[in-house]
Amino acid sequence: MGSQITPLGGSATPYVEFLDVTKVYKDFRGSPVARGIEGLSFAVRQGETLAILGPNGAGKTTVLKLLSGLVIPTQGRIKVGGFDMIREREKALQHVGVMLGDARSVYWRLTVRDNLEYFGVLRGVYGKKLRQRIAGLAELLDFEDVLNRRAGELSRGMRQRLLLAIALLPDPQLLILDEPTFGLDVASRYEIRNFLREVALQRRRAIVIATHQMDEAQALASHVCVLRQGKVVTLNTTQDLIRKTGRVRDKKIASSSWLEGVFLELTSKARKERAEISHDGDGYPLG
Ligand SMILES: Nc1ncnc2c1ncn2[C@@H]1O[C@H](COP(=O)(O)OP(=O)(O)O)[C@@H](O)[C@H]1O
Ligand SMILES: [Mg+2]
Repeated sequence: MGSQITPLGGSATPYVEFLDVTKVYKDFRGSPVARGIEGLSFAVRQGETLAILGPNGAGKTTVLKLLSGLVIPTQGRIKVGGFDMIREREKALQHVGVMLGDARSVYWRLTVRDNLEYFGVLRGVYGKKLRQRIAGLAELLDFEDVLNRRAGELSRGMRQRLLLAIALLPDPQLLILDEPTFGLDVASRYEIRNFLREVALQRRRAIVIATHQMDEAQALASHVCVLRQGKVVTLNTTQDLIRKTGRVRDKKIASSSWLEGVFLELTSKARKERAEISHDGDGYPLG
């Protein structure tokens, strides 16, 4: 499984390549403290959405941090847009938009508009073009009404929209999203998923999204990578996974959503093995 690349039709060069990547977290002495991911390989082309699925601690965020250049692989190679993430980091990241779960990246005392202007300039978007992009994103993501409110006063749904808009400001070729609809109501989840589907399909962008919501992967992703304790359990097109699992376990899967069934099946062993359950922090620091 180690060196397998997402099997796919189509001859387009992948926009993202993970080649046998391992990340071991180490302490300041260099002693290993935790395994992030092990021997992970996949590829994502423009127009595709890869969902990274798995329980807490499976390595989802590690994959996204590696892809965003925030942590360095212990082994293996990562290429984005044809550039090597280590040797040509800046070029690799030039057309990448990132929305990580950690919302500390927003200035809660500034208005929504000020945040967008600040991050726009950081990403090299200025002046009229910046104002147009902010207006466009506010309309598309439906947060025009809160542009002049402080980010710290926003509802959870609006904050998520702001974070997504910040990630989209540079009009990225690759969008990296960590649990983007976590904690949102059904209507907001639905809207944001539709929006992301359009970004991938109509605008031909590549998206890598970490989620533990099965229906999210089902709704959004062309490909699914299920991780368990840092290793790939399955890497496949969503369609193929539906087809295979539908045939094997139709009754059981009919009782919940099919992917949830697959997921439970694939990760139940891991759940038994895990000694402790960690929780991702879901609180936003205000201030
Ligand atoms: N900065 C870090 N230092 C040490 N260990 C870490 C760090 N970040 C993540 N880990 C460990 O790596 C593993 C994968 O974590 P993570 O990628 O955050 O998983 P997920 O996003 O699927 O919950 C976990 O065992 C976690 O404890
Ligand atoms: Mg995570």
